[in-house]
Amino acid sequence: MQTLKVDLGERSYPIHIGEGLLDRPELLTPHIVGRQVAIVTNTTVAPLYLERLTATLAGYNVLPVVLPDGEAFKNWETLQLIFDGLLAARHDRRTTVIALGGGVIGDMAGFAAACYQRGVNFIQIPTTLLSQVDSSVGGKTGINHPLGKNMVGAFYQPAVVLIDTLSLRSLPERELSAGLAEVIKYGLICDEPFLTWLEEHMDALRGLDPQALTLAIERSCAAKARVVGADERESGVRATLNLGHTFGHAIETEMGYGVWLHGEAVAAGTVMALEMSARLGWISSADRDRGIRLLQRAGLPVVPPEQMDEACFMAHMSVDKKVLDGRLRLVLLRRIGEAVVTDDYPQEVLKATLVADYPALVDQLRG
Ligand code: NAD
Ligand code: GLY
Repeated sequence: MQTLKVDLGERSYPIHIGEGLLDRPELLTPHIVGRQVAIVTNTTVAPLYLERLTATLAGYNVLPVVLPDGEAFKNWETLQLIFDGLLAARHDRRTTVIALGGGVIGDMAGFAAACYQRGVNFIQIPTTLLSQVDSSVGGKTGINHPLGKNMVGAFYQPAVVLIDTLSLRSLPERELSAGLAEVIKYGLICDEPFLTWLEEHMDALRGLDPQALTLAIERSCAAKARVVGADERESGVRATLNLGHTFGHAIETEMGYGVWLHGEAVAAGTVMALEMSARLGWISSADRDRGIRLLQRAGLPVVPPEQMDEACFMAHMSVDKKVLDGRLRLVLLRRIGEAVVTDDYPQEVLKATLVADYPALVDQLRG
């Protein structure tokens, strides 16, 4: 087992990464304050892992809260089900909310923990690759609004993150690919050697090679912990973690939550960020193509939806959380391994990026 630390002073917490950690009570119980525990999970994950986690928590008063599965349920109505469960079972301020599932469950359970009786103890047990490398670390919690992705939420850090890499064995291939989009992101924004490593190990990762997966998770969590430790509330460098997300969130919202997976939308959005960085002359077209090829090898879509035109993208992007004083800030690449957040770009370049011929761009990679 490897343990990393998110360094946030008295709110610092460990990230444990390893095989079979779901069965290790000694990693969880030091972070549980009272006797009451609510495990928030969903109808897909519950049959796979709920019983095991409940057995690990023997001696505690465990309340399972099983939500419907899917991004389309990341909303007020589903959040209310968590409060309904906690109140009906008389959970008090010393309860611990545990998120057992992917990023949707983690974001919703965390938001519920932040709000319930003005804040109760919270633990993340992420079970998708995406949630293990990104969403479980850093304390962003929340729900979607019909007009915008993740628009309602709170920063609320967990007490511990427990990553059992064996849980990835039950993950559908499409979901594994979605997680790889966020893994590739770290290489692009802050770790060029990791990008090279990913190019060498992409087949092993997709084949669920345990060593490769563990290394990719550790390296991703280390990058995320570093960035969050430096800028918890996203006043600066943390925004670079959103490479491809402004374009990607527009795709998710326009297509309907859950139609494109979050990681898929981020992948196509990352291609757009690469294209814009190349159009600005910051990266070469060879670097852009390097990023696109890796995303493709991860099994991800690299072309935005055909029906989304410039006006459609702009309408969604104008409500992005990175809009400040009416100016849209974008995460772009100065070079591979270095991202910047900037509103200092010619509008024509953004416009050209939104209307670029992505199918043709991808076709030329085959040549
Ligand atoms: P998800 O939570 O929808 O999980 C994907 C699917 O896999 C679901 O059907 C889920 O039930 C299933 N699943 C989960 N674990 C499984 C397992 N071990 N075996 C089989 N099936 C399993 O999606 P996700 O990709 O994990 O997370 C996406 C969400 O995370 C989005 O809502 C996104 O906005 C959010 N997110 C948040 C942050 C953050 O910092 N808080 C960062 C990135 C993404
Ligand atoms: N996933 C972006 C962040 O945590 O800031």
